[in-house]
Amino acid sequence: MSSKNVLIIGAGPGGYVAAIRCAQLGFNVSLAEKRSTLGGTCLNVGCIPSKALLASSHYYKFAKEQFATHGISTTGLQVDVPAMIKRKDEIVEKLTRGLDFLMKKNKIERLHGTARFCTPYRVEITQQDRVIHTLEPDYIIIAAGSVPVELPFLPFDGQRIISSDQAISLQEVPPTMAVIGGGAIGLELGSVWSRLGSKVTIIEVLDRIAAGMDAEVSAALTKSLTKQGLRILTSAKVTNAEIHEKNVMLCVETQHKHLTLEATVCLIAAGRRPALETLNLQAAAVEINEKKRIKVDKNYRTSQPHIFAIGDIIDGPMLAHKAEEEGIAVAEILAGLPGQVNYHTIPSVIYTSPEAAAVGLTEEQLKSQNIPYRSGKAFFTSNGRALANDTTEGFVKVLTQEKTDRILGVHIVSDMASELISEAVTLLEYSASAEDVARTTHAHPTLAETLREACFAALGRALHS
Ligand code: NAI
Repeated sequence: MSSKNVLIIGAGPGGYVAAIRCAQLGFNVSLAEKRSTLGGTCLNVGCIPSKALLASSHYYKFAKEQFATHGISTTGLQVDVPAMIKRKDEIVEKLTRGLDFLMKKNKIERLHGTARFCTPYRVEITQQDRVIHTLEPDYIIIAAGSVPVELPFLPFDGQRIISSDQAISLQEVPPTMAVIGGGAIGLELGSVWSRLGSKVTIIEVLDRIAAGMDAEVSAALTKSLTKQGLRILTSAKVTNAEIHEKNVMLCVETQHKHLTLEATVCLIAAGRRPALETLNLQAAAVEINEKKRIKVDKNYRTSQPHIFAIGDIIDGPMLAHKAEEEGIAVAEILAGLPGQVNYHTIPSVIYTSPEAAAVGLTEEQLKSQNIPYRSGKAFFTSNGRALANDTTEGFVKVLTQEKTDRILGVHIVSDMASELISEAVTLLEYSASAEDVARTTHAHPTLAETLREACFAALGRALHS
């Protein structure tokens, strides 16, 4: 057990998890956070509030479009947006209060204010430019997270040009919405407002949405979201914008045409960037890499031996679960344990309907790396549970190494793909083969049987197709 002092900057999933693990390992922990609530972007304005709205808007759409086939009739179905937003806020409040309890339970000192380096060893915590604490801890872990990227020609104004921070708190359904960026944020929040009645257009500069996913997954999402009423423009660039009192006029250039798009609001979902500004890193002499992220070695150590960094502020996907893993690992490394993260098995999920979830390599990556592989695919249309649930859209694709049958990638489009992917993550973590899954009993009827069926297909002996 250590009695050394650790200061953690930022109380998102990376920072607060690092704080708890450090406390468990005997460090004296202080956690600095500039927000009045803990949980960072994820709990306050990201993962959790967006999932609350995705659930509410999904129930509404399901009631509107699918209840009748279940023999359920509704009249006067209506959306109360302020009530929906209030429910979302209450979930956030409940979770952030839960974190307050966890900090107390683990005897973590909470410092409300902005942390700023004065020297590599001294950090001030300020509130409205007033210094309220000065610390000289033995170790510092920077977990300051990220902020939405602003487009130079379309700066955020919080009214017409908004980021995800505002898109989760609109008090009424905008008649039209333009979304710049077809990644996770654009597709999830575009889906929320489209389901509630907004005419949503996604403008993506690359030739496909969800570009980080397997191409078949992108294609399936494009087809499904288009069927749901979202307009998707790919290889599309906004070349000019005029902001009026009641709307925004966007000039959009695609491969084939130029068009003018009117939107009540324009959501910029073009990525996030590390939140470096308030840290005064120059004073700490902490090096930044060419991607403007903090440079760390494999032990999350920065160019200063006593300063560490984790989460969105360093290289890698900007995902809450990646930051959490790094939070645990860095605490264990500080305690002299072999903390590590397996970056090959970090899942990614897009919570649209159907959801898209993936772990491991895509088919395109296998091809470009010249890895001989087999592909097995199974569809939910022949899954009894999916039929019973009325959620038959989608598939599971399993990619295995040709010679060894080892599973190298799993790609799922389906209801609850976010839950199904955990089995695949475990399979990759344990270097499982398709044969292993084929010999593992899956409860019947469950959606997970389709993962097993895809493994049978990869082995060339599909049972149900
Ligand atoms: P992203 O990087 O996932 O997607 C941004 C998209 O915008 C890209 O496809 C990019 O090509 C496009 N783009 C960039 N500039 C553009 C422009 N000027 N015009 C048109 N398209 C443009 O970023 P996103 O969706 O903003 O999310 C930010 C981060 O948060 C990501 O790392 C994401 O993984 C993470 N996140 C994860 C979620 C999840 O796991 N479900 C949910 C929300 C965010």
